Amino acid sequence: MIHTRGVKKSFGSLQVLKGIDLNIAKSEIVAIVGPSGAGKTTLLQIIGTLDMPNSGMLVINDTDTSRLKDKELAAFRNRNIGFVFQFHQLLPEFTALENVMIPALIGKEKPQVAEKKAKDILDFLKLSDRMEHKPAELSGGEKQRVAVARALINDPAVILADEPSGSLDTKNKEELHALFFELRDKMKQTFVIVTHDEQLAQHTDRIIHMKDGVIIE
Ligand SMILES: Nc1ncnc2c1ncn2[C@@H]1O[C@H](COP(=O)(O)OP(=O)(O)O)[C@@H](O)[C@H]1O
Ligand SMILES: [Mg+2]
Repeated sequence: MIHTRGVKKSFGSLQVLKGIDLNIAKSEIVAIVGPSGAGKTTLLQIIGTLDMPNSGMLVINDTDTSRLKDKELAAFRNRNIGFVFQFHQLLPEFTALENVMIPALIGKEKPQVAEKKAKDILDFLKLSDRMEHKPAELSGGEKQRVAVARALINDPAVILADEPSGSLDTKNKEELHALFFELRDKMKQTFVIVTHDEQLAQHTDRIIHMKDGVIIE
């Protein structure tokens, strides 16, 4: 479902990705691990179409992303890719419900439909009673679950997560990881997760080891 071929990326004279070939299937949970500076975040940003490779190809759901113009790419990203970052990146002035609705509204969903969808997802994530709260009034674990709800709202082809449990305590970390597997089992959700967490990595379908801009093994 996701294919990269020969993806290279440099920042100035620093070559950060040196030719990445990757195939990820639907409902697979893949962990990307490796030392700091290996290029994991850069690769995730490129898979997420937030950054462009200097060369190579990225195909998501049979779409060659290099063929899309800026506006088409933004719409494609909104429709197909959900993001979960280490720090939730929820908008502070908006409630949990509003934060979750935003990607659907950007995707031109009717407000009533977006609200219904957001409520259903928040309900599924056991956040119904936190819906009207703003991020500052939520715990770290709740904020990350709201971020997952926001990632899910457009029923994306893949959720990309960069150190999603990196700022959580053990209990919340385990709950968040369990949620990823539940979403895969119940909704066939595909995940690509950059993580330092050994326990999480061991439970995924596949671990991709990166070092110095290449996949090793
Ligand atoms: N926008 C950027 N401009 C310049 N250098 C960058 C940029 N983004 C990342 N880098 C450099 O690329 C290398 C890989 O970074 P990154 O992909 O964040 O690695 P990781 O996530 O594995 O720690 C690092 O040396 C980092 O400093
Ligand atoms: Mg990183």
